[in-house]
Amino acid sequence: MSVVDDFDLQDPDLVANPYPIFSELRKSEKLLWSDRLGLWLAPTYDLANTTLRARTLGRIYQDRLPQSEWEIFNWLHSDSILDSEAPKHTRLRALVQKAFTPGRIESMRPNVEQLCTQLLDDAQLKISQTGSFDVLADYAEPLPVLVIADLLGVPREMASDLRRWSQDIVKMYEFGRTREIELAAQKAGFEFSQYIAGLAKERKVNPKDDLITALVEVEEQGEKLNEHELIAMCVLLLNAGHEASVNGFGNGMVALFNHPEQLQKLSKAPRELSATALEEMMRFDSPLHLFERTATADTVFGEVTVKAGEKVGAMLGSANRDDSVFDNAQTFDIARTPNTHIAFGAGIHFCIGAPLARLEMNTSLPMLFERFPNMQLADQPVQRPTFVLRGFESIPVAIK
Ligand code: HEM
Repeated sequence: MSVVDDFDLQDPDLVANPYPIFSELRKSEKLLWSDRLGLWLAPTYDLANTTLRARTLGRIYQDRLPQSEWEIFNWLHSDSILDSEAPKHTRLRALVQKAFTPGRIESMRPNVEQLCTQLLDDAQLKISQTGSFDVLADYAEPLPVLVIADLLGVPREMASDLRRWSQDIVKMYEFGRTREIELAAQKAGFEFSQYIAGLAKERKVNPKDDLITALVEVEEQGEKLNEHELIAMCVLLLNAGHEASVNGFGNGMVALFNHPEQLQKLSKAPRELSATALEEMMRFDSPLHLFERTATADTVFGEVTVKAGEKVGAMLGSANRDDSVFDNAQTFDIARTPNTHIAFGAGIHFCIGAPLARLEMNTSLPMLFERFPNMQLADQPVQRPTFVLRGFESIPVAIK
């Protein structure tokens, strides 16, 4: 069997540690066809980066799910920025870009700090009562959910519903889904879209200073944004606005616990090192591992031609470990610079929320280490069984 035949995303050993097989896949330095996944794999930095930037590879799924069962789920995707291409993508992206400029994001810093303080106070109380807290469930997870809810204008009490809907939808992006997963995703798509439709209706009557109101005003002017696009935009922002941030922070914390000298270094100078540390956390164990593109025309990658209609998977996590781009790529170094990882993607779909994700991490990481400079694992972290969205369910931590 060739190395690509061994590449089975449902193999628990591969999910636990995909990095050895990534190294093998990168050795070929060309696109590799996977029969199992039905797509070309782009495992090196150069191939993954080219895949994300190629004009003839689009985020246009040829194989939408049957409309009879999946109507809402389908338009929640096809009418979102993430799954559209120019000119629709250009129009939709321009509408939200203003909310994500570095200046607008910077103005959210006091809100992020206040949320971190509140979560750390709760964690401290939990430690005094039980001796430990869960840095994933009690800190990394609630923070981005609450921040993105505030930005959109969704009441904070909805945080657990948002998290549940998002989790049920994103399980559809993994390989080997079951009927149970499909039914949960359909239900989540229905409930989530109904909820946002209701909120948008309410904002038409009672406008507020939030992103939903701003989008509703655009929709009311007609032409630029229709109702499905408005709902799809909000659902995407709420989901994309926390899923990767939760996992990026969690994966990075586990990397720190697995590298005690790096943990100690960060504990001693959290403010000085957090900016480079967070980029290394994103690179070393990236939260998003595979993004697909479909060829809209035959596309040549060296000796391989991807035929129109075929799919290519950009392997971000593998690209970020490419030794031809990063010095000592397999080494976790929180002071690494430069660090040109592509955990936030590349090209026209480059993550619109990257400045927000960076602000959140650059605030929450030093605040965590200032409050608890002597953290250690209280128990083994529990990993999620998924490949595409890589992360942990729980990371129990105690104070030395
Ligand atoms: C650590 C955190 C994050 C990571 C690693 C991340 C990663 C990514 C990646 C890789 C893409 C490109 C997908 C592709 O090319 O197919 C993307 C797109 C996107 N991200 Fe993020 N993201 C993060 C946080 C956020 C946040 C906080 C938001 C807030 C709203 C957000 C919103 C989006 C949106 C709307 C897109 C689609 C952009 C487009 O299609 O033009 N992300 N993200």
